[in-house]
Amino acid sequence: MDPSRAAAFPFIPADTAPLVIDRTEDVWLIRDDGTRLLDAGGGAVVTNIGHGRREVVEAAARALGTIDYVVPVWATENRIALVEELVEHWLPDGFTRASFFSGWSESVDAAIRVARTHQVAVGQPQRWKVIGRDVSYHGSTLSGLSVGNHDRRRNGLEPMLADHPKSNWLDPEALAKVIEQEGPETVAAFIGEPISGASAGAMVPPDGYWPAVEDVCRANDILIIVDEVMTGFGRTGRTWGHEHFDVTPDIIVGGKGLSGGYAPMGGIYSTDAVVDPIAAAGMGLMYFTFSGADLGCAVSVEVLRIMRQEQLVQRSAEMGARLRRRLEDELGGHPNVSDIRGLGLMQGIELVQDRDTGIEFSRSIDFAARVAGEAIERGVWVYPCGSGPVADALLIGPPFTITDDHIELIVGTTKAAIDAAAASVSG
Ligand SMILES: Cc1ncc(COP(=O)(O)O)c(C=O)c1O
Repeated sequence: MDPSRAAAFPFIPADTAPLVIDRTEDVWLIRDDGTRLLDAGGGAVVTNIGHGRREVVEAAARALGTIDYVVPVWATENRIALVEELVEHWLPDGFTRASFFSGWSESVDAAIRVARTHQVAVGQPQRWKVIGRDVSYHGSTLSGLSVGNHDRRRNGLEPMLADHPKSNWLDPEALAKVIEQEGPETVAAFIGEPISGASAGAMVPPDGYWPAVEDVCRANDILIIVDEVMTGFGRTGRTWGHEHFDVTPDIIVGGKGLSGGYAPMGGIYSTDAVVDPIAAAGMGLMYFTFSGADLGCAVSVEVLRIMRQEQLVQRSAEMGARLRRRLEDELGGHPNVSDIRGLGLMQGIELVQDRDTGIEFSRSIDFAARVAGEAIERGVWVYPCGSGPVADALLIGPPFTITDDHIELIVGTTKAAIDAAAASVSG
């Protein structure tokens, strides 16, 4: 492709032209020059069943050939089938309600609106605050940025963001203190990612964190929203990330694995206890025009069917354990790696200038992005991330269909990329 065409594509002009991907296949992204990138980031930790699955393409074609657009409140066969698939096979006991959106920020926004509407419906209109965590990412809408705290992504927008309180992301005692300070009667909900994704590179909270959240929220009639956009649908080796911890949420937001990247689809899932009072009060949940598009529902039904048929959640656990072992073998003592963490096929590598002192690279160096650039040069895509106290990290979240050979390529290339990026900033 003529490079000037790609260079003109970004909305905000950049020094370098974006990568041009010609097609996707299995675990590979194929560039316009024919070179192949192993998709170790699963895009943005999205791809679960791998690329180019004919069954999904055919389901999408059938759906589009039957129905293009109907308003979100009407039922279609694919919409009904997706709710049935979720309730029967994927959602925790008691989760009977599902609503779908075209994206994950939209889904987070809807979850916040449901929590607030529930509180109004049960006669608690003074409860509006949604307590987030001081390192977190819940999307880039103004509501998602307000309840989240990803400093790079909030940058410059702060005056426009609602002032929702934050509690420490790793301290089990912190939430109780924030609730006390704010006044429990003002708090509608708490929101957190079971394992922190784009803000912190797969940080797993300490034992006791989630049970403490549950205790204090139950004691104060505060709803618990788990943002499983990244951790849901098997990414962490269990169906839901929160299953690793002793916590029962009220609302789940989930995501990326729902349609495996084949269609823009997100959803929120909840219980009769949350939803029935909203109905009884004659209140509702306004949709977006493209919410629950028939195409996205058809694709999601097929993706989830493949996941079950090929037992891919279990595979995420198994291959995740192998990936983790190999990362620890090869990078455990690396001078620029301060931590390797995560669960299942959501693994994070925290990067620092000096492992012994914990000193980070200066923000202006954008070290994680440099490492990702070096990895691309060597044929692997890893997802750079980090915010606040985690300046630089990599997320490794490949399709669940990866093999041992792919793991060797990911680990070897990541190591070479970190070495090359470190050499480029020291020399
Ligand atoms: C946990 C979490 N919530 C919300 C979002 C927002 O999704 P989107 O970028 O599609 O709006 C993301 C995206 O990475 C996410 O990881």
